[in-house]
Amino acid sequence: MKQAGFFGAAGLVALAGYFWFADADQSAPQITGDTASGTALAEVILPATLSEQAQMGKLAYDAQCASCHGVNAVGQAGVAPPLVHIIYEPNHHGDESFQRAVGQGVQAHHWPFGNMPPVAGLTRADVAMIVAYVRDLQRANGIY
Ligand code: HEC
Repeated sequence: MKQAGFFGAAGLVALAGYFWFADADQSAPQITGDTASGTALAEVILPATLSEQAQMGKLAYDAQCASCHGVNAVGQAGVAPPLVHIIYEPNHHGDESFQRAVGQGVQAHHWPFGNMPPVAGLTRADVAMIVAYVRDLQRANGIY
């Protein structure tokens, strides 16, 4: 029997899906109602430089948070919100709310993505560096 290779029917559908998502990303407004899983929820402008704290925070963020909140904290539809978002400005979600989120997890309340489980293996100092990173990203996007 002839086997369908990667470019068989299923492969083509997968490719078409890939390009559709890539295209949707580029034209995405700040927050979309798009529920396609994994799509970025925010467009994030990267700061020209990161503070030393923030550079270390980025390493921890990429290892422990990006799988849900997305690389550069853009969020992922169906998974977790963008942390570069007006909701998470320092006045509304102070640094302590990041410590609480990591230490105790978060009951879903702002978004339809379910609860955030606690993240093990991070000290308060680690989380403070993650916060420094997220605040640098937020500032570059007019959130402060
Ligand atoms: C398993 C997925 C997942 C991981 C991993 C994750 N988060 Fe979350 N996080 C969520 C979801 C979902 C929410 C949204 C809850 C809601 O509806 O408000 C959230 C919300 C938050 C909030 C908002 C808390 C509040 O008081 O509203 C902060 C801050 C946060 N996350 C920080 C982090 C940090 C920092 C990390 C990495 C150390 C991390 N998250 C890892 C899923 C995740």
